[in-house]
Amino acid sequence: MLDTNVNRRNSNNIKWSPVKKDPGVLPMTIADMDIATPVFIREALQHELDQRVLGYSMPMASFYDAIIQWEWQRHNVSLLRDQLILLPSVVTGLAFVIRHLTQTNDSIIVMSPYYPPYRRLVEGNQRQMIDFPLVQREGQYVIDFERLDQVMSTSHARAILVCNPHNPGGRVWTTAEMLRLQDLASQHQVLVIADEIHDDTTFSDNEPVSLLANRMGESAVEQTVLLKSASKAFNIAGTKLAYLAVKNPELLAKLQQAADAEAIQEVNTLGVVATQTAYEHGERWLNEVNQYLQDNRDYAYEYIRENIPLIRPMLPQATYLMWLDFMAYDLTDQALDEHLQQDGRLMLNPGIEYGQSGSGFMRLNFAVDRSILKDALSRLGSFDHKMRKI
Ligand SMILES: Cc1ncc(COP(=O)(O)O)c(C=O)c1O
Repeated sequence: MLDTNVNRRNSNNIKWSPVKKDPGVLPMTIADMDIATPVFIREALQHELDQRVLGYSMPMASFYDAIIQWEWQRHNVSLLRDQLILLPSVVTGLAFVIRHLTQTNDSIIVMSPYYPPYRRLVEGNQRQMIDFPLVQREGQYVIDFERLDQVMSTSHARAILVCNPHNPGGRVWTTAEMLRLQDLASQHQVLVIADEIHDDTTFSDNEPVSLLANRMGESAVEQTVLLKSASKAFNIAGTKLAYLAVKNPELLAKLQQAADAEAIQEVNTLGVVATQTAYEHGERWLNEVNQYLQDNRDYAYEYIRENIPLIRPMLPQATYLMWLDFMAYDLTDQALDEHLQQDGRLMLNPGIEYGQSGSGFMRLNFAVDRSILKDALSRLGSFDHKMRKI
């Protein structure tokens, strides 16, 4: 059922576009998969195209039911249809929430390293970003809660943006961590904006807990806006469909009013079809792809640790992204990227784009066929070999 034999070199996608100029380089970058979108989703899209008219459409009750069922069964989030607002993408939704639930010049806490658009979404909307560095403990990122408490009390932050699970570190925040975060947010009256786009790409050793889950408790649920999409797990980012969920009636009313004013719910027909099909029929495929990704993760992690010990990988607990520490080479961020491309013939996402605390790191996307992953790892080996000779 899983089809990892894809060649995206000649299609119009972001990840492979550098290859048009430099055919010898291997990109392991942006967070979509070089694994075919499942056939049952492509068939559902084909069925839609076979109607021969792509006119106006509206999401049916069964579409909302599919989201509600998925969130309940997989994530313990109980939702009513009216608590959902449709969006073209999570990023659009983050900007929308920031604009409508915070005020100009409000401060928003963002844990770093962070998904690069967060800074632009906060600062581009004239809010102040408080960069809150995560701390490394036993090879994983953790949240320094004492510092978070301090920052919340002194900064008068209006909101905190939480990436759960975390991109780029791959951390699955534990229930205890998320309860503590919610507790602090409640004490300091901070809105919790939860980006949970990666929470379906999970491995057998960790299970994410949603910040909007019933088990977070009532006050947590009241102060949280959840943003989500099926796009990462089912490889349908190009169909442009996401949603936000909010239970607090006051916040919901504000967002619904704004959604009407901005017509933000006018989403793509094909996105609706793809998401509904994914949620209604995708469970088996998802288990299969996640097993493949877990095997890739383990392979890459072990390979790097055994063969390229100067690179220190973080073991991702979720996501298909591996965060690699190159600090032992003592290169500037620019030189690191250049050497990887020139000597390793490999493109990764430079960690410095994820904030200052990403300096010295690179992010590798391992959602590829195993043979491509092996090629990428051998290129990392060539880079290492050349660097040792300098
Ligand atoms: C944490 C996170 N949020 C949001 C997105 C983008 O989501 P969308 O394409 O729905 O805007 C990504 C994509 O990589 C991501 O990693």
